[in-house]
Amino acid sequence: MCGIVGYIGKQDTVPILVDGLKRLEYRGYDSAGIAVLNGEISVIRRLGKLKELESALLESTPAGFVGIGHTRWATHGKPSEENAHPHTDCTGGFAVVHNGIIENYSSLREELQAKGHTFDSETDTETIAHLVEENYKGDLLDAVKATIKQLKGSFAMAIISKHEPDRIIAARKDSPLVLGIGDGENFIASDIPAILGSTREVIFLNNDELVEVTGDGVNIFTFNDVAVDRDSFTVHWDFEAAEKRGYEDFMLKEIHEQPVAVKETIRSRFQKGKVVLETSSNLTDDMVKAISKIFIVACGTSYHAGLVGKNVIENWARIPVEVDVASEFRYRNPIINESTLVVAISQSGETADTLASLRGAKADGAKVFAISNVVGSSITREADGTVYTHAGPEIGVAATKTLVSQMAAIYVLSLYLAQVRGTLAQNEINNIIAELNELPEKMNELLKDINGIKSCAMEFSDCKSFLFLGRGIGVPVAMEGALKLKEISYIHAEGYAAGEMKHGPIALLERSVPVVVVATEGHTYEKVISNIQEVKARDAQVVAVATEGDKEIKNHADYVFYVPRTSELLSAIPAVVPLQLLAYYIAKIRGCNVDQPRNLAKSVTVE
Ligand code: M6R
Repeated sequence: MCGIVGYIGKQDTVPILVDGLKRLEYRGYDSAGIAVLNGEISVIRRLGKLKELESALLESTPAGFVGIGHTRWATHGKPSEENAHPHTDCTGGFAVVHNGIIENYSSLREELQAKGHTFDSETDTETIAHLVEENYKGDLLDAVKATIKQLKGSFAMAIISKHEPDRIIAARKDSPLVLGIGDGENFIASDIPAILGSTREVIFLNNDELVEVTGDGVNIFTFNDVAVDRDSFTVHWDFEAAEKRGYEDFMLKEIHEQPVAVKETIRSRFQKGKVVLETSSNLTDDMVKAISKIFIVACGTSYHAGLVGKNVIENWARIPVEVDVASEFRYRNPIINESTLVVAISQSGETADTLASLRGAKADGAKVFAISNVVGSSITREADGTVYTHAGPEIGVAATKTLVSQMAAIYVLSLYLAQVRGTLAQNEINNIIAELNELPEKMNELLKDINGIKSCAMEFSDCKSFLFLGRGIGVPVAMEGALKLKEISYIHAEGYAAGEMKHGPIALLERSVPVVVVATEGHTYEKVISNIQEVKARDAQVVAVATEGDKEIKNHADYVFYVPRTSELLSAIPAVVPLQLLAYYIAKIRGCNVDQPRNLAKSVTVE
């Protein structure tokens, strides 16, 4: 995730910016840069880790008391020095750092180019610098206000200008920004840890607010130009707690970031009832119409996203789908031709088996499409096109927010296929889009009340084995619930299709083996209830994930985790959240390291 830091005061700004950026390293980044005001604006950027930037600064350190810095985690444009922030306008008069996504950047870029602006990067952010240049009539604050009105999307940004060396202007919409208050100096940052080395007095900027920061103070305004008076508060967190935004672990933080991950992934992909895939997807209508078969290949949690994909694509786009674990696909000689689409799902974009599967499928003539969270990763570079998820970097080894954003990307891709092939009517597409847009808020609601999950975790933390069951879209959810529990608590767990239980796993059932059942509303709900009865008849305890308002389920299950109502195929996203939390709390009770479980790696680049 990108990080921002800014400083204005009486000290040399470079060491302060570099220290702030170092404190943001844990968020993950691919390049870094700073801009310092010293009459002109000096910009120094480097691809790679901060030590590259530091080496460049050793050769030539700009002196100055005002500056902005950034660590970039690529979303628009590959990781490179040109795409690293800060970005400047044509005149070098303005420099900007930005977190978030400017949705309308390509139309703005075209308009600006038509007016003669030249661009040096592929980023959405550079558009902001040129817009400020265009809007500047002698007052930077006014220029930024005018610019904000032209932007669609999410942003936290900080802007400096050589024309006004005594202030930084910053603004926030749907992307966090904090102000650090010092004595004769002030700070801006995307996250509290960035400024904890200098001050503990902090003001949060709210959504739709902008701020003028000088050495003497901060003046906050709403986007509607109303002045805001807000007191600072003292941060008592230590640095480590601040990195985790007060959560005990990265995994818990990332579980709570899932609504944003889904929101960011679907953002800007629906325009006026149409599903829009970015140009990097490279999937033409003719290609979509010619697809006769889809293979989804992935590993681990991404494989579960693939299973969701099979259900959704077959239902909406009516294309046959096979889902394979990549380590099998690459060696099994599947039947592939030019009308085959292979979708490789990988949050890291580096998983060796998935990459090898992609290469094999391409060599056999298939079109290969990636779903990944990392711009410029190996899989995205070799695929014919990519739908990026926008979960931000995931630090916990166990995948959580990347999974729900993969599912969100799959919904987008499936709707796109259905739209092009005409297998869903426009009103059906509209309804699904409306429901998808509601999901983030529903997930927020779900995450507000998790006490029931904690007590359930207490009850079952000593168990040696769990069974997870589901039907239809509930199968991958059950499999993911089992995988999460295995990974972080080291308890044996199996995820199974509920109808298969009687063909084997039922032999495991006894009081000490809890059975977690995904029993959300759907066309097989009654069948799931019958499976629960079979479990109860063997004396095992049942934990059900059910749809809010389901009164019947309480008659069958010992514990119920309710999730907000949504349509059956979309229910995979809310239903997986309580299972992640159950695994998390059981692991915590057992004293496990949830962020770095034993034997696991975040990115599996070996076979
Ligand atoms: O980076 P990828 O999505 O390709 O990774 C695939 C698996 O290695 C990954 O999902 C793994 O199973 C995680 N430990 C899941 O929590």
